[in-house]
This record gives sequence, structure tokens and C-alpha cells, in this order.
Amino acid sequence: MPASSTPDYVVTGATVVSHDGRHRHDIAVADGKVLAVGDGLAADGVPTLDATGLLVLPGLVDMHVHLREPGMTEKEDFASGTRAAAAGGVTTVVDMPNTKPPVATAERYRDKLELVRGKAYVDFGLYGMLDHDNAEEIAGMAELGAMGFKLFMGQTTGDNRCPNDAAIFRGLEAAAAADLVVGVHAENDHLLRMFGDRLRESGRKDPRAHLEGRPAFVEVEAVTRIITMATEAGTKLHIHHLSTAAGLNRVRDLRAQGHRVTIETLVAHLFLDDSAYDDYGNLIKLNPPIRPAADVEALWAGIARGDVDIIATDHAPHTAEEQAEPDVWQAYGGFIGVETMLPLLLTAAARGRLTIEDIVRLCCYRPAQRWSIASKGQLAPGFDADFVLVDPTVESTLDAAGLHSKHTVTPYHGWPLTGSVLATYLRGQLVYEKGDIIGEPAGRQVMPARRPATAAS
Ligand code: DOR
Ligand code: ZN
Repeated sequence: MPASSTPDYVVTGATVVSHDGRHRHDIAVADGKVLAVGDGLAADGVPTLDATGLLVLPGLVDMHVHLREPGMTEKEDFASGTRAAAAGGVTTVVDMPNTKPPVATAERYRDKLELVRGKAYVDFGLYGMLDHDNAEEIAGMAELGAMGFKLFMGQTTGDNRCPNDAAIFRGLEAAAAADLVVGVHAENDHLLRMFGDRLRESGRKDPRAHLEGRPAFVEVEAVTRIITMATEAGTKLHIHHLSTAAGLNRVRDLRAQGHRVTIETLVAHLFLDDSAYDDYGNLIKLNPPIRPAADVEALWAGIARGDVDIIATDHAPHTAEEQAEPDVWQAYGGFIGVETMLPLLLTAAARGRLTIEDIVRLCCYRPAQRWSIASKGQLAPGFDADFVLVDPTVESTLDAAGLHSKHTVTPYHGWPLTGSVLATYLRGQLVYEKGDIIGEPAGRQVMPARRPATAAS
């Protein structure tokens, strides 16, 4: 509960959007927390923040970013990546462990916490890695506040040896004992390598070869295998960046049989289809790849039906030079996205693709709930006063030059937008306003509220 009963200020005149509705309410803020949400909260002597005509959303929680520390700071770092987050209305990010070196031991987890301390402009959680041989490190990382553990079943950026099934199962058991989520990159590594070799040997180097080398069944197989194993191990399972209609259908089938799993789709998989290879080349190389339009439609239908739990960005920066690489086998997968997620989703909302309540559910409420981030995801008394002021009607054009990442190459440059992030508040403090980052980095580590049993001992 907030320590004080007198607000530091009151947000007035706005429409507060939550995961299940929208209301004209004031928000009283005290000591960085929401003190009250309701009518007539403004009082004599209490400063007001007039948000008349605007929407107030909870700060977004992006469960999937790669801020590249340690070891790849030529691509991005905690300061630049979290400035981009703040400018995009994202007040909590969860950073992935495929760094150099990977965050696969408790010692490296501690080193990373030390390394990023004082650099973040928004709050952050850190994943550990479920490695090919690190089940005995899981409990130690959990004690240090790991949000969960990333399992790369298919190879991607960084030196991540994909674990075999025995190693995966041991890791799943250890994560279950720590009561933490395992988040999976679900692609079958052996099949990826085989198809990639075939295409390479045939002389292909064009961007579309990446898609052809990662057919949908490669995802379906990995999804089926990991759900099967996680159920057996009793592990909380999350599938990152599910990308195909077939993968989604398999998840639906397995859910119908009683398996429990949450799934995420990426902004990129919702806004780009394979026609984009002609326009953007290897800039849009992504693992899993940008798919045909039928898959994109299936993911949107999954959102409409409530099958999809979470939308995230997979903010995966590379240098401008790397993004221009013409040989698909030399190019890296991934591109930036944390700053453009909310503007793109607001634009989709303006076009009737989803509602702004859906955005709050998929990008705030459900991520906070799934990873037990107790203070985030809602604007209710006792929660952190993380909020975004949004004008849903402003028309603009996305300009890469205005973005805050180290390298601002984005396929969305020049796209028309409806809806804009005007200001972002982190625990009551203004951190972004109309193009500018405000103040010093004040981001703190967030961790799952339900501490693992091992932490008490
Ligand atoms: O394309 C990707 N890039 N997919 C991933 O899973 C990782 C990411 C990266 O780290 O570059
Ligand atoms: Zn990723």
C-alpha cells in the first residue's frame, strides 16, 4: 500500500483504459504509486496534470527485448534501449540472456545486474538462460530475481548451443522447482540446419531463402515437443514469438487436451508478411521468419479469439551496417521494435483490428500476471504509477530519425500512424515527453512476486 494518503499530484480529465474497459477517472499518485482511481480526486493545494481529451494506459510491459549487454553494445545497450522503451510507452522490459557471454550461471547473472545498474530509464527484469548443461544454475539465478529462463531450441544470435532433450528436461524440472516460467524459442535446430545447408548448397542467398529454410512444421514440432515435456515436468511454459497458423492450431489442440501454456506473437509477425522481403530484404530477417499473409491473418484471428496471451517486440537491434548485409546467410535475424510497438498497435486499433483494451490486456495486464510482476500492468491502488498519455487521433508518419535506439533502421520508416505516445511516467516520474527523454536513468530491477521456495532457505 502507498505510504502516504496525500497525493503528490492528480491526473485529471483523462480516459483511463484498462484490460477490461475504459472510464473517465482521475488518478491520484503518491510516492510513485497509484493512490486512488476515481472521480473528484483533485483537491486544494494538490498539483494536477491535465490530461483532458487523452487516454491514460498502464505502462507497457515488453517481455521480449535484447538490449545486448554484455558483449554486443555496438548494437544497443541498456541506456539506449531503455530510452527507446520510454519513448514508446514501455515502462518495463524483460531482457534476454543471449549475450556474450550468455547469462547461464548465477555468477554471470550477478555480473549482469552489476553491469546494468544505474543505466536503465525504465524498469527491467532479466531472464536467465536454460543452457545445454546448466540445470544446477537455475536455482541460483532464481534467487537473484530471474524473471524466468529462455530456452533456445533453435539457434539464433549469440553463441547458444541448443540443449538436447535430456538437458531441456532437467532445466524444465529445475525451473518448475523454482516456480518460474520457461520461455521458449520453439524451432527444431536440426531441421533448421539441414534445410539451411540445402538452400546454401543450391546457391540461394536471397532474403526469401530464410523463410523457405524454416517451414511451419519446424515450429509445430518444437512447440509439440516442449509442451509435452513441460507438462510432464510441471513447468510454467511460455512460447515466445509463435509465428504460424499451424503452430497456433497445434497449441489449440494441446490446450484442448489439458496442456497449459501461454503464447506470444510479435508485432513484426502481425504487421509484416512475406511480400515485405521484396521491400526490405534482409533487414526483416527474423527468427522465426516473417511469414506468408495467411499466417499473419491466423495470428490476428488468434488475438480476436483470445488464443494469444501476449504481444511483445523481440526488440533485436543490430548495427546499421549489419542490417544492410545482402547475403541472407551472413545477415543477422532481428530488428528494433520497442519504441514502435504502441504507435503501430494504436494504428491497428484505429483501423478496427483490435481495441485499445486489447492492447492493455496483451501488453500490460497479461505479461505482468503471467510473470507475477505484482506492481505492474494495471492502474489500480497500490500499483506502480507507470502510465502513458496517448492521443489516439493524431495522424503522423513514422520517422526512423526520431527513434532513440543506437541504430534506428526500421522497416516501419515512413508508415502512416494514427495515435501517438505523448508522455510516459515511470513510478510517478515523467521520463519521456514529446520526443525528449526526461531526467536521469531511474529504472529498477523487477522480479517475480512469488519467490521460489529455494529463496527462503
Ligand atoms: O531474429 C531473432 N533475433 N530472433 C531471436 O530469437 C533472437 C534475436 C536476436 O537476439 O538477435
Ligand atoms: Zn528474441
